[in-house]
Amino acid sequence: MLLQLEDIEKSFYLRDGRLARNVLKNLNLRVNSGESAAIIGPSGSGKTTLLNLIALIDTPDKGNVLFSDENLKGLSGRKLDEYRNQSIGIVFQLHHLLPQLSLLENVLLPTLGSGVQKADSQKRAKELLERVGIWDQRNQKPGELSGGECQRAAVVRALINQPRLLLADEPTGALDEENADKLANLLLEVHKEQGTALIMVTHSTELASRMEHKYILRNGQLVENE
Ligand SMILES: Nc1ncnc2c1ncn2[C@@H]1O[C@H](COP(=O)(O)OP(=O)(O)OP(=O)(O)O)[C@@H](O)[C@H]1O
Ligand SMILES: [Mg+2]
Repeated sequence: MLLQLEDIEKSFYLRDGRLARNVLKNLNLRVNSGESAAIIGPSGSGKTTLLNLIALIDTPDKGNVLFSDENLKGLSGRKLDEYRNQSIGIVFQLHHLLPQLSLLENVLLPTLGSGVQKADSQKRAKELLERVGIWDQRNQKPGELSGGECQRAAVVRALINQPRLLLADEPTGALDEENADKLANLLLEVHKEQGTALIMVTHSTELASRMEHKYILRNGQLVENE
């Protein structure tokens, strides 16, 4: 099992300590290596909260997140950095590229300190940027590029260290239909070719139907939709 969520609970509290929302309640999920899972659910149902727990951007109040059968609660120091930087890749709803760096510098950022030879990282960056059609724009900064181009760069950045799990939070939400299709195809192709497990939050039932599992997040729990 690549990823396992066990009885996850997550609430948000107001500043005075009062409970604001009990977002996830006894939530369970299992994802095998190389598998794809779509997560759909209404706005505010907790989809981003869920991805943040998997990415260790946030921690659950109760329950466990296991990656390769290892409880992530126990991770610290270098192992924690390795998990965040190399085991998983994340594509957010908005690209989150650093504005002061060029596209190439942005996508190479996760390779610094990864132990991978610089030349190998550069070769992979070139292959991926060419593949998504933005190699020619590699020296431009995010502010000088379209939203679709930035989002493609964000996908390259997420894939640069060949993660075993790719998390994508409504990655096509800010794009027009044509660019959204291209980006969705890219994510699904990479998932298939490289055996990267993929968890994607999407509002598109069409896109969700192209993935192996489709889960609906409702009342704090995931229900598989056949
Ligand atoms: N840091 C926070 N503090 C307080 N409440 C929060 C916080 N983060 C999220 N919430 C609340 O938790 C609920 C779930 O939020 P979340 O962002 O996970 O929803 P979502 O399913 O991703 O929605 P959307 O489809 O709009 O992106 C919302 O009601 C939100 O207001
Ligand atoms: Mg969200």
